[in-house]
Amino acid sequence: MPDTEPPIVLICRRLLSAGRDRLAARCEIREGGLDATPEELVALAPGTTAIVADPSVAVGEELLDAAGEGLRVVANYAVGYDNVALEACRSRGIAVTNTPGVLTNATAELALALTLAAARRLGEAEGELRAGRWSGWDPGDMLGLELSGATFGVVGMGRIGRRYAELVAPLSGAILYTSRSPKSDVERGLPAARVQMEELLARADVVSLHVPATPETIGLIGAAELNAMPRHAMLVNTARGPLVDAEALARALRDGAISAAGLDVYEHEPNVPQALLDAPRCVLLPHVGSATTRARDAMAVLVADNVLAVVDGAEPPNRVI
Ligand code: NAP
Ligand code: GLV
Repeated sequence: MPDTEPPIVLICRRLLSAGRDRLAARCEIREGGLDATPEELVALAPGTTAIVADPSVAVGEELLDAAGEGLRVVANYAVGYDNVALEACRSRGIAVTNTPGVLTNATAELALALTLAAARRLGEAEGELRAGRWSGWDPGDMLGLELSGATFGVVGMGRIGRRYAELVAPLSGAILYTSRSPKSDVERGLPAARVQMEELLARADVVSLHVPATPETIGLIGAAELNAMPRHAMLVNTARGPLVDAEALARALRDGAISAAGLDVYEHEPNVPQALLDAPRCVLLPHVGSATTRARDAMAVLVADNVLAVVDGAEPPNRVI
């Protein structure tokens, strides 16, 4: 007898209608909602074929076990998938998928915006004006870093790192990058030079992070790395919070070890360390790298495509494992 029950998909928090409607046409949908607690998700999980997660949802053994043996795919509504316990999924034969490519422009553009905002202290400057503290043009007020001719250091020359490098190229004097493997097309095309991390930190005026959070990259930037940067240099992080030691960064900003920072991501989101909130010359955004309508809709479509491929017994287009 054919199984006529529709597969159950647990959308842990929220999936935009561009993807949700595609899933709803063929699947039973359960939704945790934006405020879902881990306990509520565990309660919703039994019997699900697919779990739709996002960077704010930790997918670990408890949730996988609660879903049961019918769980076949965890579809992450993001390109990064450090929130998913990969080994636990692998050992249970559960596919994990992500949403690469469609958010590359949005995230690289946000990294450029953060770069400019931090260099020119846009948050502070607007805050002063809105607070009624602007008393007129002052030649010494809000002095920042001019980026024309600057050396940009791109840590991780993947999709987003490369697009960021393309966007800053017209401004740059030089582009340095680190990557596990050389990118000869980037080196010729931009041009950019692959260097060791130590050299990048010592030479770059702007260091922008674009590597995923993995055991090798967590803690990549700590006190030693910040102290190795020139005092006028700045750090931009649109990748993942755990790459940077937030307390060390706040200290470096306070002590003038570096001149500015722009952050979109934090280790324990949505908590932002008080030390960063108090730090000078630090632009803080609430994880909005891919937050354009175009990117978020396209990501939602990819989530649905990946779930439906697995439901149909086909290879999902964006399999991570
Ligand atoms: P990607 O194309 O896979 O690029 C990642 C790059 O990091 C690759 O070039 C890779 O090097 C390099 N890399 C990986 N592990 C490394 C290591 N241990 N040491 C040095 N380099 C390493 O990924 P993407 O699409 O550009 O996305 C990058 C990250 O951005 C995501 O993982 C996510 O965390 C973050 N992100 C954040 C937002 C946001 O909203 N703020 C939005 C999208 C993405 P190889 O090429 O040599 O393998
Ligand atoms: C967002 O942070 C993503 O990884 O897509």
